[in-house]
Amino acid sequence: MRIDILSLFPAVFTGFLNESILARAIKNDLVEVNIIDYRTFSNSKHLKVDDYPFGGGAGMVLQVQPVVDALRSIQGYEEAIKILVTPQGETFKQEKAYQLSAKTHIIILCGHYEGYDERIRDYFDLELSIGDYVLTGGELAAMVLVDAITRVIPNVISKDESHQFDSFNNDLLEHPHYTRPREFEGKTVPDVLLNGNHKLIEEWRLKESINRTKQRRPDLYKKYIKGGKYHE
Ligand code: ADE
Repeated sequence: MRIDILSLFPAVFTGFLNESILARAIKNDLVEVNIIDYRTFSNSKHLKVDDYPFGGGAGMVLQVQPVVDALRSIQGYEEAIKILVTPQGETFKQEKAYQLSAKTHIIILCGHYEGYDERIRDYFDLELSIGDYVLTGGELAAMVLVDAITRVIPNVISKDESHQFDSFNNDLLEHPHYTRPREFEGKTVPDVLLNGNHKLIEEWRLKESINRTKQRRPDLYKKYIKGGKYHE
């Protein structure tokens, strides 16, 4: 899988790509991430990429030319899945992370300023939002996508770290976890987890998952009750 990110602030990605699971996935050639500074594609003397909105109004608008030229500089861009991150997009969910993890090439555009020139949208396949709030730019949203997609690429996380039972995979939140010590400031671990009876443990975990989902995410719980789809 190759991911190209079009950004005006490439340095923002440095720490993120050089730590933990992402760094390991890159080192093991399971994913390749390239950051392209699309300011360098500006035709203007001062490498401007934004301009005033036609019709007036507050804020600046990202211009179409640098974005499209940067996009066309990417080898294989025509076949790639081209994603624009914007608060106006479809909300990014775990299911989409799985779908995108099966692609061979993804391009993500991070916007800035008040908005995109509307014509930029014609060059992209998909618009994704990471939630109902407005960020100063698309970089954090792009990182969220890269992280969630990469961790479900086969072999990126080991069996021990498995994502098979993650929250959302079957419209349920994950059950509670405990590790050593058995007791901390009077707080104990549920007995069922200590008795080695795997059937009972599984039953307890499912019950806890269901209760937790019902309490915290009634919307998900409704979906689960309607016949939650299990992810293989
Ligand atoms: N850019 C600014 N806010 C965003 C959001 N919530 N999701 C995706 N991209 C964004």
